Amino acid sequence: MPQHSEAQARLVVDDEFRVGPVHDRVFGSFVEHLGRCVYTGIYEPGHPTADAEGFRQDVIDLVKELGATTIRYPGGNFVSGYQWEDGIGPKENRPRRLDLAWHSTETNQFGLHEMVSWLNKAGGNELMEAVNLGTRGLPEALDLLEYANVPEGTARSEERIRNGADNPFDIRMWCLGNEMDGPWQLGHKDAEAYGKLAASVAAGMRMLDPDLELVVCGSSNHTMDSFGKWEETVLEHTFDKVDFVSAHAYYFPQLMENGSRDMASFLASGVDMDGFIKDVGAAIDATKARLKSDHNVYISFDEWNVWYHSNEQDKKLEKWVRAPHQLEDVYNFEDALLVGSLLITLLRHADRVKIACLAQLVNVIAPIMTSDTGAWRQTIFYPYMHASVYGRGTVLNTQVLTPVYESKTYGDAPYLDSVCIWDEEHDALTIFAVNKSLDEDMEVSCDLRQFEGYRLAEHIVLTNDDMKAVNTEADPDHVAPTHSDATKLENGKIHTVL
Ligand code: AHR
Repeated sequence: MPQHSEAQARLVVDDEFRVGPVHDRVFGSFVEHLGRCVYTGIYEPGHPTADAEGFRQDVIDLVKELGATTIRYPGGNFVSGYQWEDGIGPKENRPRRLDLAWHSTETNQFGLHEMVSWLNKAGGNELMEAVNLGTRGLPEALDLLEYANVPEGTARSEERIRNGADNPFDIRMWCLGNEMDGPWQLGHKDAEAYGKLAASVAAGMRMLDPDLELVVCGSSNHTMDSFGKWEETVLEHTFDKVDFVSAHAYYFPQLMENGSRDMASFLASGVDMDGFIKDVGAAIDATKARLKSDHNVYISFDEWNVWYHSNEQDKKLEKWVRAPHQLEDVYNFEDALLVGSLLITLLRHADRVKIACLAQLVNVIAPIMTSDTGAWRQTIFYPYMHASVYGRGTVLNTQVLTPVYESKTYGDAPYLDSVCIWDEEHDALTIFAVNKSLDEDMEVSCDLRQFEGYRLAEHIVLTNDDMKAVNTEADPDHVAPTHSDATKLENGKIHTVL
């Protein structure tokens, strides 16, 4: 029973009660050959800011500021029809293809070499490469691995060298296909068939490079009919051969009978993500016990975001266009609140979730938008950037004593989401908190007496009176962080109002 009045919450932390370290890869993102993510997003030869390779410097600057780490590539649904060889070698010889996943035309002017080079320029981010297990299988995955990771002296490694890369790309992290449980997926398989295929591909790839880290496909969302059974069957086949099982979630507000959207439930979506992580964790533990394995499998939450604003517009898209304006959600202030809440949820599960990728990075359901004339930060840019910049160290097991509300879709939801991250090495404690009330301020306090000698460094706030406020090219800083002076640290207790 909450013992607090409507708009008060208290955090309880103990520096000895820890969930685990924050993993660098939890601030990952995703670049898919989809819409304008690659073409006119990160790659636009001829653009005023483009370098000799055609990479937009204005986008690289924002990617660095965002603090994205591991980047998943090249899809997504796209990868299930992708022939990676189309994207290597002289650009004038690369074939144009129809992308059956997104009904557009792929020119292949950007491929693996370009991605590796772009990542180096964007801050040395790690590449998480997906192999096509939709229309292809083990031979093509092995070819790609040989091309990418073998130093020299084999057909594929020498081909890479001829194509300009003397050093191997040394890609450590690989996804074994994408959303293979989804009927929309090219080459969709049932759990048995996919589990067997993924096991044989994992075993084959490890024969070539034993130290790879492999991600097997879990469910493409928590509401799939096959959810749970899919995880158990796939893990039964692959458990000792993989390191991660994936989870994907996109949230949107349900339309209500009166035509408006259920924003209270939308803001409660973290309840679903939390349950999703616990359910996948249970499937991992059950399989581990059944197999009597001493191997550990973690969760790679390698697609997550809000996605719904562009749905109607995308129904009108012309087919087979190159780089169409597709999935271009314009995010508002309430989306930023939810993204903050979902980041808190991911961090609270640091013992299970060791990779997470905000889907996607540029233009396509993304924190960064571009036009011919500029690049700007969407509202969701800020919670992600602050989490990546300040959320480093150890996740403390944060008890959040908060009033709750009844949401139509997810039942009881806390008004306050919060997590404390302690960077012991630098003597810094960061408290992330989101007030999900649509109309009330929230008083929040936390006893910090254990953190003797700590002073209040700053309180960064993202707030807006208009829940629908957005950033646009014409008004790029409409929703932007400010500093609060409503926060006090007195007698070892921190107090603030959100
Ligand atoms: O991120 C957009 C799409 O969402 C991805 O291609 C797919 O994996 C998921 O369904």
